[in-house]
Amino acid sequence: MFNRICIIGVGLIGGSIARAARQQGLSNTIVGYGRQQDEQNLQTAKQLGVIDDYMLDLAEAVQGADCVVIATPVASIESIFVLLKPLWSDSAIYTDVGSTKGSVIAAAERVFGVVPDNLVPAHPIAGAEQSGVTASVNDLFLNKRLIITPVGNTKPEAVQKIQGFWERLGSLVSVMDVQHHDGVLAATSHLPHILAFALVDMLGHKDEQSEIFQYAAGGFKDFTRIASSDPTMWKDICAANKDEIIPLIEQLKGELDKIQRLLETNDTRQLFETFTYARNARQRFLDQFDNNINMSKSITFQVQPGGKLQGEARVPGDKSMSHRSIMLGSLAEGVTHVKGFLEAEDALATLQAFRDMGVEIEGPVNGELTIHGVGKHGLKAPTNDLYLGNSGTSMRLLSGLLAGQAFNSVLTGDKSLSGRPMKRVTEPLAAMGADIKTTEKGTAPLHITGRAGQLTGIDYAMPIASAQVKSCLLLAGMYAQGVTSVTEPAPTRDHTERMLSGFNYPVKQEGNKVSITAEGSLTATDIDVPSDISSAAFFLVGASIAPGSDLLLKHVGVNPTRIGVIDILRLMGANIEVLNERTVGGEPVADLHVVYSALKGIDIPEHLVPLAIDEFPVLFVAAACAEGQTRLTGAEELRVKESDRIQVMADGLQILGVDAQSTEDGMIIQGGSIGGGEVISHGDHRIAMSFSIAGLRANAPITIYDCENVNTSFPEFRDLAKRLGLDLVCREA
Ligand code: S3P
Repeated sequence: MFNRICIIGVGLIGGSIARAARQQGLSNTIVGYGRQQDEQNLQTAKQLGVIDDYMLDLAEAVQGADCVVIATPVASIESIFVLLKPLWSDSAIYTDVGSTKGSVIAAAERVFGVVPDNLVPAHPIAGAEQSGVTASVNDLFLNKRLIITPVGNTKPEAVQKIQGFWERLGSLVSVMDVQHHDGVLAATSHLPHILAFALVDMLGHKDEQSEIFQYAAGGFKDFTRIASSDPTMWKDICAANKDEIIPLIEQLKGELDKIQRLLETNDTRQLFETFTYARNARQRFLDQFDNNINMSKSITFQVQPGGKLQGEARVPGDKSMSHRSIMLGSLAEGVTHVKGFLEAEDALATLQAFRDMGVEIEGPVNGELTIHGVGKHGLKAPTNDLYLGNSGTSMRLLSGLLAGQAFNSVLTGDKSLSGRPMKRVTEPLAAMGADIKTTEKGTAPLHITGRAGQLTGIDYAMPIASAQVKSCLLLAGMYAQGVTSVTEPAPTRDHTERMLSGFNYPVKQEGNKVSITAEGSLTATDIDVPSDISSAAFFLVGASIAPGSDLLLKHVGVNPTRIGVIDILRLMGANIEVLNERTVGGEPVADLHVVYSALKGIDIPEHLVPLAIDEFPVLFVAAACAEGQTRLTGAEELRVKESDRIQVMADGLQILGVDAQSTEDGMIIQGGSIGGGEVISHGDHRIAMSFSIAGLRANAPITIYDCENVNTSFPEFRDLAKRLGLDLVCREA
């Protein structure tokens, strides 16, 4: 790409550019320039092979260079321009890496009169708190953002060449105007640095400094890492961009004042709202940009082989019912109290969506919520897109509910949710008169134009057995003229119907057909959410496959439309007792006692598939431990869950030495032994937990990558699994 690159300032950034350019073969020669006092560093750079040679004379250094990279601190760029002015060559391209761009442009104007058209200002958003060439690395810019800020007269060919150069170094290049760049960076980089410096400055000056730092833990370290950055460099950056930074400091003071007031007035509800908003906003941009910012922790589970599950446990609340409790509680007249609510990301996404539509919801505190219902027509237009994270249930059910509102809305989700099929809901909704736009592929974001009073009921025969589709249409039917009926090809979970009845809303069930109209209103009620059988399933399988296990799982929801996992395990020879059956708030609940028992392979009856739809990943683990062959058919739906659960499980089981063959609509597994190995959950919570359970019967350790999403349904999984006897450790990186 270039014949000779001259790097002015061979420190962390300059050195890393040289290393990456050399690795990519982008220049025949790479030389460095520095001042006399930098000679030691330049010598090191040469010895390390970062540069071919160095010069202390700038004329010599830029001689014959077709690319000159100014990688000095922002404050010295002007003096470099002064030195370069008599040596400036029209045939070379000049670029810099300064963190503020307005100051670089202003310096160029002062020195040259007009900014030279072959100067391409650029800023790699990458760095480390260490400095000097010894800290330089080959991959500093890999998958990192780089912003180019050309001015009016910058030559497009020069911009293109510098863009190509940075792309070859692995950067994700954007082009924007100077002021925009400086505003964005003031907020996302300069202000956080100032905060980190300020906090450590304040705490460091306290008398008890030695004592408090002794107790500082991960949060302090994470938050203040950047206070170890080079003070000279940061004083220069902050001074150069002060016009953008000062208004932000003012705003932040206002935010801190607000939090102070909330504490003074014990307004924990508002405090919670503020923290929740911030947490969700962070999650939203992580999901949108995690391909390059990668700020979310990646979580790895490591499971040692063997062990048994013993004791008693109550797993967290049912996810499906938790979603519905928020939805119906919000639409009810009066105050609904919820107990046993699942405090996990999916259900919290629904909760936040309703807060965003003006519903006051207190909690959750220890699974308890108070929902101040706004009535069927009381939702307000959200000011932003409703972000639903990983949660398919939130998106599909909300699409039905929002189709008939008097306002428009947009539903978005994370990468996995944005790839899942939505036509299954938007098509029947369109037949009711709804106006919902998807992407061309029929996926989110969903742009919903509210058609209050304009929906009409339909009689819909569902082509797939989906409780989400059924529930979506019932919610839309509450706003439609006439009757909305849904006929299902096989029974699916009926929590929506049961809960609607619990709120006194009329729903008619005739065989496999359920009907609803807009006649009626919801009366607030109290909801007691039982434990989620889908979470209990991991331990039902774990105890069934690990010799010596004896486990009691308490207060589990055993709605007949959800107990396929018990039926399938029993067919395989599992020893599961359903004890103390009772009805709580219209839902059957029981304690499940499970004791180890040798399992045998079976052909899974297809009618049980919708009744165990979320439990197949862990049932595949049971099959891998069973004697003989297990065959699943009629389960193509598994391919469009949070991951392609057929493929991902088959791949993982094969890595663990299991003979697992995926088929279009299921899997064939020859039971035997499970080995150790490294598997990937593909961001699917149930895959991560299933492979953890496999460790109980593995003969070597299993490492499972990408386990963050366990938090979507079962944040307590790792602690509970450990307490019951699984040797699991969790690493965060
Ligand atoms: C759910 C229904 C099921 C299930 C999902 C939750 C619900 O999806 O897989 O985890 O709460 O209605 P489908 O109805 O699409 O099968």
